[in-house]
Amino acid sequence: MKAIIPAAGHGTRFSPYTKLVPKELLPIGSRPAIDLIVREAAEAGADEIVIVTSREKPLIERWFEIEPPPAKVRFVHQEEQRGLGHAVLQARLDDTALVLLGDALVSGGNASKAMAELSAANGGASVIGLEEVPSEKVSRYGIVKLDGTRIVDMVEKPKVEEAPSRLAVAGRYLLDPAIFGYLADQGAGVGGEIQLTDAIRRMLAEKPVLGYVYPGRRHDIGNPAGYFKALEAFNGIRKD
Ligand code: UTP
Repeated sequence: MKAIIPAAGHGTRFSPYTKLVPKELLPIGSRPAIDLIVREAAEAGADEIVIVTSREKPLIERWFEIEPPPAKVRFVHQEEQRGLGHAVLQARLDDTALVLLGDALVSGGNASKAMAELSAANGGASVIGLEEVPSEKVSRYGIVKLDGTRIVDMVEKPKVEEAPSRLAVAGRYLLDPAIFGYLADQGAGVGGEIQLTDAIRRMLAEKPVLGYVYPGRRHDIGNPAGYFKALEAFNGIRKD
C-alpha cells in the first residue's frame, strides 16, 4: 500500500493567510498538520507517501527537509488546480492507494490503520472513511447509501429529504488501483472540477467499496472554525 496526500489546493476558505502559508502547514501543537497526516499514513502501513503539491507551496517540501519523515516521501506537482480527482491522478500508482486529504484530521485513533485492517479482512476491498453528521448538515457533504457495510451509492450534497443516510464521506479513502483508470477518463463535475467522488461512484458498480464509520470526528482545517475545533481535539482540550 502507498499513500497519496493531496495538498495543492488554493485554500481560499482560509485566505488571506494561505497566500503566505499553506493550510496543510497550520500548526497542531508544535507540528504542521501534514506531519500528523504523514505519520498516520506510515503507521497505517504505507511504505511510500506521495504528496501532491504545487510550485506556489514550496514550504511543504521544506518542512520534510527540516524534519525527515518516518517513511519515504515523494512530491509531485499539480500544475493546475483542477480538483481533488485530478490531484489524485497526478500521483497515479499501480498499488492500492490510501488517500488522506491534507486539510483533514480525524480524531479518535488512527482511522487509516483501521481502514487498512478492514480492507485486509475483506479481500483487499476499497474502504471509505465516513462521519455521521446531523441531518441539517447532510446537504454540505457527499452522503453514502449502505447495504450492510458495502457502499451501494453516493449522492453529492443531497437535500435532507433525499439523503440516503447521515453518513458523510470524510477525508480518508483506501482505493483499489482501478480508481486511476476511472479518474483518467473522468469528465469535470461540480464546479467544473474533476471530482474523486464521481470516479468512486463509477467504481462502486464494479468493485466492492466498504464504509468505515469513524469512532471520532473529522476536522476540516481548511476554514478557521474547523481549525480551531481541531486544535481543541488534538491538544486534548476536548475528546471529539
Ligand atoms: P479542498 O477543496 O478542501 O481544498 O480540497 P481547496 O481547493 O484548497 O479549498 P478552498 O475551497 O480553496 O478553500 C481538499 C484537499 O485536496 C487538495 C487541497 O489542498 C486539500 O488538502 N486539493 C484540492 C488539491 O490538491 N488539488 C485541487 O485541485 C483541489
